[in-house]
Amino acid sequence: MGPIILTLLAATALSQFSSAADTPFSYESIQLRPSDLTSLSPSLSKLVSFGNASDPSAASASRKLSSTGCKVFPGDKEWPSDDTWGEFNKTLRGALIKTVPIASSCYSGWGYNKTRCDFLLANWADSTIHELDPTSYMSPLYQGNTCPPTANPNGTCTLGGFPSYVVNATTVKQIQLAVNFARNTGIRLTVKNTGHEFSGKTGGAGALSVWTHYLNDILYLPKLDDEVQKYSGPAFKGGSGVIAKDLTGCWGFGGYIAGGGHSPMSPIYGMAADQVLSMNLVTPDGQFVTASSTENTDLFWALRGSGGSTWGVVTSVTIRAHPGTPVTVVKFDLTASTSKTFWLGMKAYWKHFIEYSDAGIYSYFFIFDMPPVPFMQMVGFWAPNKTKEETAALLKPWFADLAALKMNVNASYVMYPTAYPAFINTFPLEAVGGDQIVGSRLFPRESFKDPNSAIFNKTFDAWSTTNSSMLISFNIAARNVHNVSNAVLPAWRETVMHTIMGVGFPNAAASTAEKRAARDGVTKSMKKWREVSPGAGAYLGEADIEEENWQTNFYGSNYKKLVSIKKIVDPWDLFWSRTGVGSEVAKVKTGDVLQNENGPLCWT
Ligand SMILES: Cc1cc2nc3c(=O)[nH]c(=O)nc-3n(C[C@H](O)[C@H](O)[C@H](O)COP(=O)(O)OP(=O)(O)OC[C@H]3O[C@@H](n4cnc5c(N)ncnc54)[C@H](O)[C@@H]3O)c2cc1C
Ligand SMILES: *[C@@H]1O[C@H](CO)[C@@H](O)[C@H](O)[C@H]1NC(C)=O
Ligand SMILES: *[C@@H]1O[C@H](CO)[C@@H](O)[C@H](O)[C@H]1NC(C)=O
Ligand SMILES: *[C@@H]1O[C@H](CO)[C@@H](O)[C@H](O)[C@H]1NC(C)=O
Ligand SMILES: *[C@@H]1O[C@H](CO)[C@@H](O)[C@H](O)[C@H]1NC(C)=O
Ligand SMILES: *[C@@H]1O[C@H](CO)[C@@H](O)[C@H](O)[C@H]1NC(C)=O
Ligand SMILES: *[C@@H]1O[C@H](CO)[C@@H](O)[C@H](O)[C@H]1NC(C)=O
Ligand SMILES: *[C@@H]1O[C@H](CO)[C@@H](O)[C@H](O)[C@H]1NC(C)=O
Ligand SMILES: *[C@@H]1O[C@H](CO)[C@@H](O)[C@H](O)[C@H]1NC(C)=O
Ligand SMILES: *[C@@H]1O[C@H](CO)[C@@H](O)[C@H](O)[C@H]1NC(C)=O
Ligand SMILES: *[C@@H]1O[C@H](CO)[C@@H](O)[C@H](O)[C@H]1NC(C)=O
Repeated sequence: MGPIILTLLAATALSQFSSAADTPFSYESIQLRPSDLTSLSPSLSKLVSFGNASDPSAASASRKLSSTGCKVFPGDKEWPSDDTWGEFNKTLRGALIKTVPIASSCYSGWGYNKTRCDFLLANWADSTIHELDPTSYMSPLYQGNTCPPTANPNGTCTLGGFPSYVVNATTVKQIQLAVNFARNTGIRLTVKNTGHEFSGKTGGAGALSVWTHYLNDILYLPKLDDEVQKYSGPAFKGGSGVIAKDLTGCWGFGGYIAGGGHSPMSPIYGMAADQVLSMNLVTPDGQFVTASSTENTDLFWALRGSGGSTWGVVTSVTIRAHPGTPVTVVKFDLTASTSKTFWLGMKAYWKHFIEYSDAGIYSYFFIFDMPPVPFMQMVGFWAPNKTKEETAALLKPWFADLAALKMNVNASYVMYPTAYPAFINTFPLEAVGGDQIVGSRLFPRESFKDPNSAIFNKTFDAWSTTNSSMLISFNIAARNVHNVSNAVLPAWRETVMHTIMGVGFPNAAASTAEKRAARDGVTKSMKKWREVSPGAGAYLGEADIEEENWQTNFYGSNYKKLVSIKKIVDPWDLFWSRTGVGSEVAKVKTGDVLQNENGPLCWT
């Protein structure tokens, strides 16, 4: 959902940032040294010592599970004592947080606070409050909904799929300690940046979490050369907690880039992952490394597009900077006299998807199922480097078709000098925190080539009959314009439409039958979408948590290579996330109707 830009930074607008050579950020110079270990007690030293991924005996010895066959879970005899947590906290210089669920203030058992609870009830949909909380994630559904904000203080609030402890990281050393501690104790490890991810991948019951929010330094590099990637030009280095909003407009560096990252500039510059020149990270063995076109090249390839929380904890990312581009944005709403007419109007739009993508256009629109006639909101028809007149000329043939259908268009055209103000004025902060089950698909360009073809009609029929309260759609292309080699799902290169279905149900208290019906609805509609787009895929950052054949659908032809790299880098399967690379080895045991993070992670 919601567009993200971080590839459209105007170098000129950033004179406030100092320019300097590509040295590590100060928080990256604070590292765990082998000598630090000797000053600790022997037992603690063992728990925070490095791993050796190339020593198979050490690797298997440290893939610790409890006697239950699951990751060590609170209540297990292997769970560290309070004293051990306390000692660990000291090595972290006090950065360890014991999880307090975001909405606990609404419950008498947790110390009821009416002021705070009322604030949460009123602002639950605002992503900012979840970003600022160490453990909250924006899909409470997949947390298990065990502590929703409520006006009734008599209910129960439990941790559910929230992690047990969080390291509020401000140095690389703390991250190394956390990674080593989790690996050596056998506790589940998770990573949270903003918590925007759709499928609950930023949390997990009984986990130790690394929170990257405060790794937010930004540096402008006027000139950077990458001979392998054939780039010579300005760049930005940003901490993984940088919310691109700090820079230009929106969401997080950490997970967004790792998963590919699409934006309004994708038709022109490609995916966010295509912009990356290097990344610094703490790998599963606890070491701090750089991955670039010349160092740790397999890891570098994998890190760009195959999803967060798989290869380590990223601490900073260096990306290409692009010059500012003027953008014309068109906004309008559409409905029709009948549902049939409405969909004819949409079909007329589809005829131009390839032409628009090739002209560098990105558009973002919602279709609300509002019987008897659906309603479309064009959030932004985004035309970089185009005047109002040029943009109107592109829209003219479609608008003529709409006029013939008596569908009124009252469009507003605004031209902005650069993408930043265009972005701020176009895309409102989106509501989060709802109980929706989503699914998505990247429909292939090929299907849009001939509006009279059977495949065009079949694709349109599958889409327009989706049993969903809402369609969130993008006319978007993300060609590999820089010709880089990375792990972005190949289907991204061939698409002109990314579309998300969302099926909501009333609330946390929905009955088992209601949840099941919503789940089955998405499963059925997803099946129809896949049937008309064989060989395509889905964007792992905004996808169905129960995606069938996720290996193929989220990673395509890259999957085999990704798994082979995973085995080398992370023989412990320390970084596990649902539908992540190599995640077949384990699953979360939950007693809930819907798959979620509310239970121990168990090896199968
Ligand atoms: C309202 C809304 C709008 C959205 N709009 C877009 C959009 O326009 N384009 C788009 O591509 N996506 C969009 N998304 C999806 C979102 O970008 C992805 O879910 C993305 O993964 C979020 O990344 P994040 O950095 O904010 O981190 P999180 O959501 O916190 O984390 C995402 C994943 O990355 C992992 N992770 C986080 N930080 C790190 C790190 N430092 N090192 C390693 N792993 C890490 C997490 O464990 C998790 O698996 C949207 C989501 C929402 C809710
Ligand atoms: C890691 O293990 C390999 C294989 O046993 C060994 O050759 C190597 O020296 C070890 N590395 C370290 C740093 O201990
Ligand atoms: C860790 O130490 C800090 C500072 O001493 C303290 O405020 C915090 O509560 C401790 N965390 C835990 C989980 O005990
Ligand atoms: C209750 O919450 C408010 C708002 O977050 C805060 O200012 C206040 O200190 C809290 N009261 C108590 C008793 O913790
Ligand atoms: C909560 O419990 C108290 C005491 O038992 C009772 O007075 C109150 O009515 C209850 N509130 C609700 C909303 O049920
Ligand atoms: C996390 O660390 C930052 C930076 O030190 C601090 O400002 C913030 O209050 C901490 N957050 C929590 C919840 O402890
Ligand atoms: C914008 O248009 C100008 C002039 O046609 C061209 O030089 C420039 O490369 C274009 N910029 C982008 C981002 O396409
Ligand atoms: C068209 O939209 C503008 C706002 O964008 C509004 O001021 C105007 O009244 C609308 N005109 C019609 C005919 O609806
Ligand atoms: C596809 O639908 C159009 C009407 O939108 C129709 O004219 C055309 O014949 C259909 N093509 C096929 C192959 O069914
Ligand atoms: C793109 O890169 C590949 C190697 O990764 C190379 O073979 C090919 O020639 C490049 N194409 C262009 C247009 O530069
Ligand atoms: C559509 O989905 C709803 C649940 O969201 C379900 O109750 C209904 O039966 C579904 N309809 C069809 C035709 O599948």
